[in-house]
Amino acid sequence: MAEGREIELVVADDAAGAAQIVAERLADAARTGGHVALTGGSTPKRAYEQAADLAPDWSGVEVWWGDERCVPQDDERSNYAMAKGPLLDRLASGPAKVHRIRGELGRERGATLYEQELAPLERFDLLLLGLGPDGHVASLFPDQPTLEETERRAVGAEAKHPPYVDRITLTLPVLCAARAILFLVAGEDKADAVRRAFAGEPSRATPGSLVRAMHGTTTVVLDRAAAAHLPGK
Ligand code: 6PG
Repeated sequence: MAEGREIELVVADDAAGAAQIVAERLADAARTGGHVALTGGSTPKRAYEQAADLAPDWSGVEVWWGDERCVPQDDERSNYAMAKGPLLDRLASGPAKVHRIRGELGRERGATLYEQELAPLERFDLLLLGLGPDGHVASLFPDQPTLEETERRAVGAEAKHPPYVDRITLTLPVLCAARAILFLVAGEDKADAVRRAFAGEPSRATPGSLVRAMHGTTTVVLDRAAAAHLPGK
């Protein structure tokens, strides 16, 4: 396992293989219990479904999100909705607590309420993240002022990538405090962002390059297509 700036890189043959690896990590986290933060986007759907099959009991877990869109919770763009169907609704025993980010209240009010919920939490036990083709992580977009936030744990953000709706996002210090960070990235459209995030120098132009578990482990699970621009791949 890698610590600090180091990362553990795992390259699966295809997206299905990458999803299976992440599903097994999620299932392990469910069996262990603790605070697990989920990611939005479309990539994790298959991993969520498989995790629910592998570990149908999440009663020892409190579920959080790394970010949310400012839409109603049943909107197809909601990160909560994208986890509810493939994961939460398939569990035999649901999470001890689901900390849904209340995006429908707007980015400032929703961020403030989420920060209040986050206040007692020292750090996440497992933080699942994706990576945008522009290198964004959660809703921390390239060269945005949100990357400079070191006091607040959650902030509102202007979308710089579709869907262009206001966002609520965890900030870098919270992401980097996680005990274990697990990236799931698949598809050739991510290959350049993967190279910049995981083989380049830390840069505000690629938020993924700034996210490492400083006192924990960072694992990056890729399919071969997303890994294609990495040195030696
Ligand atoms: C979001 C996600 C975001 C996501 C990446 C990758 O709210 O958009 O949290 O950070 O992980 O955009 O999304 P895909 O998996 O859909 O490519």
